[in-house]
Amino acid sequence: MQMQEYAERLAQPIDAKRAALSRDEPDQLKHVIFADQFDRPLLERLCTLADTIRDLARDDTTARALSDLLRHRRAMLYFTQPSTRTFLSFTAACQILGITCNEVRDPALSSESKGESRFDSIRMFGSYFHIVIMRSPVARLAEACAYLMNDVEAQTGRGVPIVNAGSGADEHPTQALLDIYTVTRLFKTSGTGTPDGKSYAFCGDLGRGRTIKSFASLLTRYQDVTLHFIADTDPALRLDDGLRQRLTGAGVILFEHDSLDAIHQGAPLLSQVDCLYMTRIQKEHDQDASAADQRLNDEAMNRFKLTPARVAAMKPTAHILHPFPRDEAHGEIPTAIDADPRAAYFKQARNGMWARAALLAHLFGIEASIRAIQA
Ligand code: NCD
Repeated sequence: MQMQEYAERLAQPIDAKRAALSRDEPDQLKHVIFADQFDRPLLERLCTLADTIRDLARDDTTARALSDLLRHRRAMLYFTQPSTRTFLSFTAACQILGITCNEVRDPALSSESKGESRFDSIRMFGSYFHIVIMRSPVARLAEACAYLMNDVEAQTGRGVPIVNAGSGADEHPTQALLDIYTVTRLFKTSGTGTPDGKSYAFCGDLGRGRTIKSFASLLTRYQDVTLHFIADTDPALRLDDGLRQRLTGAGVILFEHDSLDAIHQGAPLLSQVDCLYMTRIQKEHDQDASAADQRLNDEAMNRFKLTPARVAAMKPTAHILHPFPRDEAHGEIPTAIDADPRAAYFKQARNGMWARAALLAHLFGIEASIRAIQA
């Protein structure tokens, strides 16, 4: 079985795919493949659920009740691309709800090394486990696996949810969910309201960074957001045309800049943003080092690195995010900034555990049982 067999379904517009990735009930996801599957009511529901799980996990008795809910369920974490936070926060999220975790991280140690196709592997995972959470360097593989699961379910009555934990350079929907959860909490706790009406800046590798693509898509669910994209003009690094079109088509006000020191409408851009989302330069997504990567050591790249002076120019209420890992050698966020109250990236990483627990609870249909523990 090859990707080719799914070509027709992969080529459909997202609106035509929604039904195949959802259950029959309204706002109930079956597979999680694109950020675009989350609408605003579902995002708000999952953020509230993540807060509830977080509260329940603080107390021993309610934490135990939470971990009884899915004790009879088993998850496969199939991560054939490096991961620390996504892998571990999914593991921890499973453990919070009592789900047993199993993993394949190195395909050289699975039967893929004997010539088994990835699709046969996924089908096997589906027959032993109740959910497959997967990260792959292959773009669209998770999506194709969701269609495979639907076909298997139609034939045998048994299919399991597929969760995309990062596919190639295209999508990272669960990171986008945790990023929305993070800004929702940060704006709420700092007394600045909701993610609506805010100004967001994205800096670094806009071309290959899948977290940016997924998070920016989800921000279209909010009213009056302004998005600033800061990157080198090299085609490998700048915002891609497809995303630009989707964002402007969704009514987002969008600006592009080539430095963190850019002046926007007469004032420093950095003094105007409510959230600055930094990213590392992702050379691993290209086979050959691109022209841009050759130039990375140049002084030119300093335009895309935070410094204490740049942070000092930001609003006192602004928040700095980074999906991590940060690149120590490149230095897009030096550690000198970590103690600044605006640095929220470690909180963001911890939020991933609660947001993913909420997502798993949604996929396994136990939202009401969680609310019942709280009551
Ligand atoms: C990101 C990823 O893998 O896309 N990391 C993550 O999941 N938090 C970002 C990156 O690798 O730079």
